[in-house]
Amino acid sequence: MISHSINNGINGTPNIPGDKSISHRSIIIPSISNGICEINNILKSEDVIHTVNAFKNMGVKIEESSKKLIVYGNGLNSLQKPKSEIFLGNSGTSARLLTGLLSSQKFDSVLKGDDSLSKRPMERISNPLSKMNAIIRTSNGTLPMLIKGNNLKAININLEIPSAQIKSGIMLASLNANGETNITENKITRDHTETMLKSFGAKITVEKTKNKKIIKIIGKNEMQSQNIDVPNDLSSSAFFIVCALINKNSHIILKNINNNPTRNGLILALEKMGAKILFKNKRLNNNEIICDIEVFSSNLNGCELTNDFADLMIDEYPILAIAASFANSPSIFRGLRELRVKESDRLKLIFENLINCGVNCKIIDDDLYIYPSKTLSIKSNKIQTDYDHRIAMAFAIMGTKIGPLEIIDSKSINTSFPNFKNEINKLGAQIL
Ligand code: S3P
Repeated sequence: MISHSINNGINGTPNIPGDKSISHRSIIIPSISNGICEINNILKSEDVIHTVNAFKNMGVKIEESSKKLIVYGNGLNSLQKPKSEIFLGNSGTSARLLTGLLSSQKFDSVLKGDDSLSKRPMERISNPLSKMNAIIRTSNGTLPMLIKGNNLKAININLEIPSAQIKSGIMLASLNANGETNITENKITRDHTETMLKSFGAKITVEKTKNKKIIKIIGKNEMQSQNIDVPNDLSSSAFFIVCALINKNSHIILKNINNNPTRNGLILALEKMGAKILFKNKRLNNNEIICDIEVFSSNLNGCELTNDFADLMIDEYPILAIAASFANSPSIFRGLRELRVKESDRLKLIFENLINCGVNCKIIDDDLYIYPSKTLSIKSNKIQTDYDHRIAMAFAIMGTKIGPLEIIDSKSINTSFPNFKNEINKLGAQIL
């Protein structure tokens, strides 16, 4: 894919796809609830399709129509032994959440993934689950992974790594454990699982204090399905927001975007940088906050973001790094250790690709420093992505300023945003 520079900004209203995190949970939770769930606006991307196929493989009836997807749930213990090994492609969310869910089943299962997912750490989920009596055999800490179904016991657990995937995997396991599981989170991570479980009638309570959150779940309690309207994805919107901010003469409106406060660090960061962004029609839908977002070209300042921001916007650093490359002053983003274990080593790829684009930057420990300058002398116009969709889209946006840039392995974009190129080109970009 080649991203060319543009002169006249981007303008209009793109179709942003449904939220990826909520889409996964919209399949998983109704599949173990009772009743019919009609899902509106589910993201139809490779990652979510892998989750859908996993549940079909376990005997769940899932019907697809052009607009809706319908899940027929038969309760907590209705899943059947999968007909074959479960292949999850590139999807870390499916892998971590399913590990939790499958560890309490009456059957054994095997999870597999593509080359990138097969390099990602799985002990972060199998270790805490083993304290609940889960029996999980990883391959040197990674996929393929054998999960032997077992009776789980409820435990008190302190989350050591700030990860919604780990938290959600444990929550799904605790739904079928004997007794009350207490999960203590010391750092904020996205709360879509808690929100959906509550609305499905799970026995869950969430206590929040200033510094921590305790989630209590009483297991062996059946849930009742609800219909779900998936809001549009803020993480996918981020590429459009930054593209509009850094290109002169831009003005875009993004509709029905999920603005969940456990996940909107990008917006807070961009506001700190002086971005002209307006929020309209704020409303609640399935207990998720949604709104329309209007964005204008802006002169951005650099900013310093503390470690806490990383918990609120972990997926958005690649695109924030592009925004920072065109700011009036340097930026420091601190505490980016988790970026090293995403779909790629994102910290390394952000650094290497920025250097190739002529942006002065450095990494010290887990902190990224970016020193923008008015003119950039490009060293290489080939962008390595290691099959990471967010690196590919972020540097496609870089190309709208300094292109042509060639984005290698851009097919990865299909994992989260199959229509990315068409949608951004409709607004004035030239990504071919
Ligand atoms: C996700 C959680 C995040 C995020 C991922 C989606 C989720 O991962 O990076 O894209 O849906 O729970 P971690 O929770 O492991 O940080």
